[in-house]
Amino acid sequence: MSDLSALRDETLAAVAAASEEGALDAVRVAALGKKGSITALLAMLGKMSPDERRGAGAAINALKDEVTQALGERRALLKGAALDARLKAESLDVTLPVRPAGIETGRIHPISQVFDEVTAIFADMGFAVAEGPDIESDDYNFTKLNFPPGHPAREMHDTFFFAPDANGERKLLRTHTSPVQVRTMLTQKPPIRVICPGRTYRTDFDQTHTPQFHQVEGLVIDKSANLGNLKWLLEEFCKAFFEVKDVKMRFRPSFFPFTSPSVEVDIQCRRRGGEIRFGEGEDWLEVLGCGMVHANVLRNCGIDPDEYQGFAWGMGLDRIAMLKYGLPDLRDLFDGDLRWIRHYGFRPLEIPTLAGGLSG
Ligand code: DAH
Repeated sequence: MSDLSALRDETLAAVAAASEEGALDAVRVAALGKKGSITALLAMLGKMSPDERRGAGAAINALKDEVTQALGERRALLKGAALDARLKAESLDVTLPVRPAGIETGRIHPISQVFDEVTAIFADMGFAVAEGPDIESDDYNFTKLNFPPGHPAREMHDTFFFAPDANGERKLLRTHTSPVQVRTMLTQKPPIRVICPGRTYRTDFDQTHTPQFHQVEGLVIDKSANLGNLKWLLEEFCKAFFEVKDVKMRFRPSFFPFTSPSVEVDIQCRRRGGEIRFGEGEDWLEVLGCGMVHANVLRNCGIDPDEYQGFAWGMGLDRIAMLKYGLPDLRDLFDGDLRWIRHYGFRPLEIPTLAGGLSG
C-alpha cells in the first residue's frame, strides 16, 4: 500500500507541475494510458484472489478517480490561463487611427480622369470607344486622310519617323488620333459613332508643347450627319465637361486636309489674373478642330460619299484638363512627381459618371 501512496504523491505532484496542456496530457498517458502506471495496477487485479482484490481494488480505483479529478481540475485551470494570456496578447486599442488601405492612397492622374470624363459624356450620347496603335503607318496617319505626298501640311506635324524597314516603309509615331478614324471606317459599316482617345506625338517641346500629348477624336458617319448636329454635340459636351449651365461657342472657318468645310471652335471665357471661367466673359479660347469628313477620306476608307456623309472633330486633352483643374504647367503632367499627383490626383474609387458627378 505504501507503493500506492508513493505513486499517488508522485502522480499528483506531476499533475500540479504540468504548466501547459501538452505536458498535462503526458502525465495522463503515463498514469492512465494503455501502458500507464495505474492501468498496470488495475490489470493486476485479475490475477489476485477475491479477498485480495476486494481491498486492493477499492484503493486502486480510488487512486484512479482522484488522479482523474486532479487532471480535470488542472486542465480547466490551464485552459483559463491560456485564454487570459491570449486575450492580453491580442488586445486592440480601438482609439488608434485607421491605417489607410493601398487603394485609398493611390491617385488617378488628371489625364486619366479627363479621359474617363470625356468617355462618360460621349458614351451617354451613344458613342463607342475606338482605339489604334501609337506606331502608325504613313498611309493611315497622312495619305488616307487626304494629305497628298509632299503637301506642306505634313511638315506642320513635326513627325517622329522610324528608320525605314526592309520594305522601305517608314513607320511613325502618330501625330494625331485621326488615323483611328481611318481604321474605324475600314473595319465598320456606317452608321458609325465613335470617339478615339489616345496618346499622340510631335517633335515639339516648350512651355505649351510636350513631345507626347493626348487627343480625343470623334467621328460620326451616317446618311444625314451635318454641321448643325456637330455644333449641338460640341455644345452639350462643353457644358457637361466644364460643368456649367451654358457655354457660348464660336465657329471659325479653318483648314484641315481631311475635312471640308473645316472649322475651329472657340469657347467663351473670362480670364482674370491666372484664373479662367467658362460660360461668361468676353474672351475666347480655342478648344478643337472639326468639320465635315472630306469625300476623299470617305472614298479612301471604302465608304461611298454619294451615300454617306459625316463629321469629325479632334481635341487636345491636356489643355482642357489644365483648364478644368487649374493645372499651372503642362510639363507637370509628365513629370511623375508624387507630391504633384497627391495634390492634383483623383481618388481611385470615385469613378466619373454623369449621374454621380464627373469630378466628384
Ligand atoms: N487631327 C487634327 C490635329 O491634330 C485635329 C482635328 C481637326 C481632328 C479636325 C479632326 C478634325 O477630326 O475634323 O491637329
